[in-house]
Amino acid sequence: MEKLVITGGTPLKGEVIISGAKNSAVAILPATLLINGICTINNLPNISDVKIYCEILESLGAKITWNTKSEITIDTREINTTVAPLELTSKFRASYYLLGSLLGRKGSATVGMPGGCKLGARPIDQHIKGFELLGANVEIAQGKIIATVKKLVGNNIYMDITSVGATINVMLASVLANGTTVIENAAKEPHIVDVANFLNTMGANIKGAGTDTIKVTGVEELKGGSTYSVVPDQIEAGTFMVAAVASKGNVLIKNCITKHLESITAKICEVGGKVEDYGDSMRVSCSKRPNKATIKTLPYPGFPTDMQSQIGVLLSIANGTSIINESIWESRFQYTDELNKMGAKITSQGKTAIFEGVKELSGAPVYVTDLRAGAALIIAGIIAKGTTNIYNLEYIDRGYENIEEKFRNLGAKIERVEEK
Ligand code: EPU
Repeated sequence: MEKLVITGGTPLKGEVIISGAKNSAVAILPATLLINGICTINNLPNISDVKIYCEILESLGAKITWNTKSEITIDTREINTTVAPLELTSKFRASYYLLGSLLGRKGSATVGMPGGCKLGARPIDQHIKGFELLGANVEIAQGKIIATVKKLVGNNIYMDITSVGATINVMLASVLANGTTVIENAAKEPHIVDVANFLNTMGANIKGAGTDTIKVTGVEELKGGSTYSVVPDQIEAGTFMVAAVASKGNVLIKNCITKHLESITAKICEVGGKVEDYGDSMRVSCSKRPNKATIKTLPYPGFPTDMQSQIGVLLSIANGTSIINESIWESRFQYTDELNKMGAKITSQGKTAIFEGVKELSGAPVYVTDLRAGAALIIAGIIAKGTTNIYNLEYIDRGYENIEEKFRNLGAKIERVEEK
């Protein structure tokens, strides 16, 4: 079993380069299934979710060439099955995008119920409602979702809940449909704009991505033939922002889109951090104990749920008592039990947690409960007194590229070791 061993107490200093966005990459890869041609995608993050997605695409008939460790050329002219391999699709959440893409291109899709981090109930009713309004028949049987249609036809679809996944999935399904689809109450996250930009680059006609109304005018075919670069990861950048402040460090975060980080920047400044915004990079520093804050997670442009655990570490050592209200996921406070093992004083009930700030954390053995909790525990280890051992690293490897190397380059004392 692998673990991370961190000796805390070093302020982070230096530069870090942010990788391509995980949640864009895992939507753009299945989106290639809509293309009757060849395309190149670069700035892909080197993470296990991307590798698994490439394996799934190959099992469906796609031909993938790795040009570099962050660039692939993918030929999706011949897709010979619409049944996705169950053992791979159950490994993560984003496998549900195969439904929209395969339904759009081939008129049928069989995909296992998606897996992913356990954050509470993760229904997909809005995805299914969208497909049905486009004319598909969707059944769930023996742990699989089976969707079929003769030809998808555009429709007006109002999302009852703002959902990143459902917005992208319906957008994927409607790209090759007959007529026009209007998605209302659409999610507005940067990766939704990224997927729309990718599809438009390949020949789709999508307007309004990034607003709450997206209009997709069906086209006959996506021809591909272009190269597309995945946007920088908003959450990875936010993770390093929090780490810089929590460790009383000074870090230049390169290759980020600072516009995507506004809600995080606002909270970093509120707790006493300093942010110098250069548009595609930012310097984040702090020299004192953070102030308390109140945070509510919300869909974009609100404060992202995927940054909740990381900022929770900062609030656990703040001067005063802070409150976080998690409005997206039912069970996203599991990491607080681990932080309490490190000396934090956090009580959580339902979707609210109260952080009574302590002066310092102390190293302990801790267990990662989900991807972002993993990033949070690394930050906690970096600022704690003594040694922290972090277990269950597979969650972290799903979504952060070379995380320990990036932290080590900033001065953190962090090693990955094999424990027998
Ligand atoms: N929801 C429904 N019905 C649906 C879909 C969603 O009720 O059909 C609810 C969910 O239960 C949740 C809320 O709507 O309460 C928002 O869920 P959403 O669909 O937006 O989440 P998702 O698409 O499953 C993506 C990210 C998550 C991120 C959320 C929210 C990917 C692969 N995952 O999940 O990322 O937390 O959006 O921003 O894009 C992560 O990266 O660590 C992660 C969990």
